[in-house]
Amino acid sequence: MIFDGLSAVGDDLILRISILYKADNNPNKVDLGVGVYKDADGYTAILKSVKEAEQFLVNNQQSKGYLSPAGNPEFNKAVEELLFGKDHPVVKQGRVATMQAPGGTGSIRIGADFLKISHPDATVWISNPTWPNHFAITDMVGLKSKSYRYYDIKEGQFLFLEMLEDLKAAKEGDVVIVHGCCHNASGADLSNDQWDQLADFMAERKLVPFIDIAYQGFANGVEEDAYAVRMMAEKLPELLIASSYSKNFAMYRDRAGAIAVVSPTAQANEINASHMLKIIRSIYSMPPDHGAAVVAHILKDDSLRKQWYQEVDDMRGRVKKMRLLFVKKMTEKAPNSGFDYIVDQNGMFSFLTLLPEQIQTLINDYSIFMMANGRVNMAGLTENNIDYVTDSIASLFKA
Ligand code: LMR
Repeated sequence: MIFDGLSAVGDDLILRISILYKADNNPNKVDLGVGVYKDADGYTAILKSVKEAEQFLVNNQQSKGYLSPAGNPEFNKAVEELLFGKDHPVVKQGRVATMQAPGGTGSIRIGADFLKISHPDATVWISNPTWPNHFAITDMVGLKSKSYRYYDIKEGQFLFLEMLEDLKAAKEGDVVIVHGCCHNASGADLSNDQWDQLADFMAERKLVPFIDIAYQGFANGVEEDAYAVRMMAEKLPELLIASSYSKNFAMYRDRAGAIAVVSPTAQANEINASHMLKIIRSIYSMPPDHGAAVVAHILKDDSLRKQWYQEVDDMRGRVKKMRLLFVKKMTEKAPNSGFDYIVDQNGMFSFLTLLPEQIQTLINDYSIFMMANGRVNMAGLTENNIDYVTDSIASLFKA
């Protein structure tokens, strides 16, 4: 017998929150768990640009025949430009291959499988804290991993010097996963100066960046948020970039993502691309097209592209507004609560500097759902629930 020896593994830490939230009967319940944008009514709506592009596809798409393991070529071209900008040297030199993959997770998985082939002895360095799937994916493909200090949850502080200190232990050819913007889970990002320093540090030590960029547009803007990708691709000879279009196109379930590999030469690039294609073919043959076809259409149509930029600006603006409002209300309701750092953080996530038992009280007694380590999705806050949330948190400081 081979199927009776396993013991069950726990649910995914993030996806489990949605299950608990759905099962809860409290009419005031609030979901600050999974990283999904919600509008002012607490709803994850389909973007107008996406609806229009979908309508265009309904009217005009002529075939659903197979594409290729690399997926939708127009999507690959369009997202490559979104990541690298127009006329980036690595693109002109033929040193980059960008391939559609199923969402951010699928893209990271293809990148990790590729590392397992190209440099199986590499240690993958992962920020502490991080998105739990980084460890899950490296473990699944059988790569070694270590963590580097990145953010002090208790103090609400970004640890740039500690990050560099820990990475001094990395060996030539080791891979460092960095969050291109909107660090998941802390919301604490490197400044452009710090990105430059990190790139020099990695170039000197011959480390390979693996940039996970799932929130392009949610920090400072679509172009601004590509700084790390564009600069690192200039300064370092080789890197991997896993990008997701789940968040910035609000197409979570359509799984549009891409893995890009930058190689030292055009010749190496062709060889590396061939390995990626082989990996893809053996896992899912080719990615699902719909989400990618929508993204491709929006990005190539001037007016839809403009509309999408506006929609990303609106999403970013609303989350920033909620960050400000949260801190303002907490300062009024519990002056010593110390959440000021949240205003300067980026993207959907921040940690609440609360004790584990306080977090459990919020979840169990107030039905405010978040990760057990205090990671909250700021996009889950609305004008309607912010008083309930801030009153509940403030009550912890009065007890
Ligand atoms: C999150 O971190 O909540 C999101 O990236 C969703 C996910 O797949 O975990």
